[in-house]
Amino acid sequence: MRVLTGAEPTENISDEDLAALYAPPAGEAFLRVNMVSTVDGSSTGEDALTGSINNAADQRVFAMLRTLADVVIVGAGTAKAERYSPIKGTPIVLVSRKAQIPQSLQGAPEGSVYLATCSRSDGLESAKEILGADHVLELGSHRVDLPLLKQTLAERGWTSQLCEGGPHLLRDLVFQGCVDELTETTVPRLVAGAYPRITEGAPIDVPLRLTMLLEDEGTLFGRWALGQ
Ligand SMILES: NC(=O)c1ccc[n+]([C@@H]2O[C@H](COP(=O)([O-])OP(=O)(O)OC[C@H]3O[C@@H](n4cnc5c(N)ncnc54)[C@H](OP(=O)(O)O)[C@@H]3O)[C@@H](O)[C@H]2O)c1
Repeated sequence: MRVLTGAEPTENISDEDLAALYAPPAGEAFLRVNMVSTVDGSSTGEDALTGSINNAADQRVFAMLRTLADVVIVGAGTAKAERYSPIKGTPIVLVSRKAQIPQSLQGAPEGSVYLATCSRSDGLESAKEILGADHVLELGSHRVDLPLLKQTLAERGWTSQLCEGGPHLLRDLVFQGCVDELTETTVPRLVAGAYPRITEGAPIDVPLRLTMLLEDEGTLFGRWALGQ
């Protein structure tokens, strides 16, 4: 793996160097979203999961980003499709309007799984029974207030926030101005087919600024800043 941006390209990046290259700013609420896609823009492959398009280098960065996060945020569609399970040492916040907890996140150790939902959700009471009321964040009445989610997590001391998708949640987070950084892996593959992109939903048009680009045998890893 090597750095393509910056004055002095570095070869054979160690895990320590990699963590330093992706270090979030200290002390301020910082929401990063990490996604992977093929060169032709698909966010999944034939199994409708990321496992059919990602590779070892992407898995390395994915795992490293988790170590830099105080909290992992994930949309209900992704948690269900990718069968999310609790992450040792890092709480997961599931985002769901319906307040539905995937089976794979039920029965998790107390405090390892939180739900961000809205107070008018039909599933609210059942979610409180499953996770414990203290772990259900009611953020808004009819929809989940995503800026309030970011603020609420930061107030708990979880300033380094990592969202692992999926495409609908990423679109909404960007639309509501919550995302500080997109880290995106482009794998050197073409898959055609009718697969989702990394953003799905109503149109948005948001400029990105490249702050870093790594390469590993044709796989590209970009850090893209949003906002000013
Ligand atoms: N390539 C990648 O990097 C990547 C990353 C993640 C996922 N994926 C793939 O993406 C697919 C899943 O796509 P998806 O779009 O369904 O994923 P998603 O965005 O994780 O899930 C959508 C669901 O999340 C909840 N949600 C999303 N935005 C919300 C908001 N603003 N407020 C409240 N709830 C919100 C809703 O759940 P409720 O219906 O429960 O209310 C919604 O139905 C899977 O195939 C997965 O493998 C790819």
